[in-house]
Amino acid sequence: MSYINENFLELQDSYLFSTIAKKVAKFTEENPDKKIIKLGIGDVTKPIVPACLEAMHKAVNEIGTAEGFKGYGPEQGYDFLRKAIVENDYKQRGIEIEEDEIFVSDGAKCDCGNIVDIFAKDNKVAITDPVYPVYLDTNIMSGREITYLPVTAENNFKPELPKEKVDMIYLCFPNNPTGTVLEKEELKKWVDYARENKSIILYDSAYEAFITEENIPHSIYEIEGAKEVAIEFKSYSKTAGFTGVRCAYVVIPKQLKGYTKAGKEVSLNQLWNRRTCTKFNGVSYIVQRAAEATYSPEGKKQIEENIKFYLENAKIIKQGLEEAGFTVYGGVNSPYIWLKVPEGMTSWEFFDRLLEEVNIVGTPGSGFGPHGEGYFRLTAFGTKENSIEAMNRIKRTNIR
Ligand code: MLT
Repeated sequence: MSYINENFLELQDSYLFSTIAKKVAKFTEENPDKKIIKLGIGDVTKPIVPACLEAMHKAVNEIGTAEGFKGYGPEQGYDFLRKAIVENDYKQRGIEIEEDEIFVSDGAKCDCGNIVDIFAKDNKVAITDPVYPVYLDTNIMSGREITYLPVTAENNFKPELPKEKVDMIYLCFPNNPTGTVLEKEELKKWVDYARENKSIILYDSAYEAFITEENIPHSIYEIEGAKEVAIEFKSYSKTAGFTGVRCAYVVIPKQLKGYTKAGKEVSLNQLWNRRTCTKFNGVSYIVQRAAEATYSPEGKKQIEENIKFYLENAKIIKQGLEEAGFTVYGGVNSPYIWLKVPEGMTSWEFFDRLLEEVNIVGTPGSGFGPHGEGYFRLTAFGTKENSIEAMNRIKRTNIR
């Protein structure tokens, strides 16, 4: 007899975005003539930027030759990409990160999910509510005790420090799903808390490129002492159009320590390296060359244009919703717009009405956690035409 990991039975039946996809597929089948506008899952519409495409083509040709062929690559990522990351994402911001503190991967979702492997089951985990479901689900799968930190309009979507001691803390800023941010001083409180309590912060920085305002940290390592307590996750998905290509990286500074039950210090970088070598054979050479090209002058320019484009959509959506009478958050330093659903309606009721009456797909706030109830998320990753059309449709209805 093979026994299952019973923690899986504690999960919701289906992953949030799969549930939505199923609902939308059913609606489409029953209403084939309706033009649905998808502003649900944060998948990009802009294709892979030309600089990356060119680098990929070149790499494809290269591996077709005897001299250029690449077999298994370094599990942690090729030196050329790790170097480019260190130089562009950190050094140019005045942050010292070493190449062997970078681990290139096939996505921040996988990294955020896999990282739990190196932590003991009995760590107490703090997770904001609402939250990107991956942090929560993967910790439920591993059977950890969870402390929820509510983030609502009442606290300006800024989580308060946990009252009791926690060992692992997930933070994502600019935030998914609320689109809100923490200022440097606010993030510093978390770094100080983690230093005092010997906790680890798992900092998801996937939306950093969307920051437009001053004094919002682009990396947690801008905060003094963060290298002692934080792991950072970064992604190429939403910037260069890599949601399907898959490439990201995680930073684990060498001074970051975990502890054995007996109190012995252990390097988390070494543990993650050991795990990576055992369970992963690295991201393909072709994809890593494409990721490297995000740092070329053309790549940087093209990505900047993408971000501008999505932020313009965010503005259209935010303004449109406000004109339609909704209370709206996010959308300034983020591709996500978080709105209050009309009084007396649940998030899922709003989802159904939006889908059925105006054929727009969004994401119900309660899907991100109980404190997301009464809220709803739209993404700016659609086309400009669809963002405008969606707002016109919403303004024409009486769903409010
Ligand atoms: C989202 O819609 O929250 C994201 O696109 C999901 C992801 O990045 O995995």
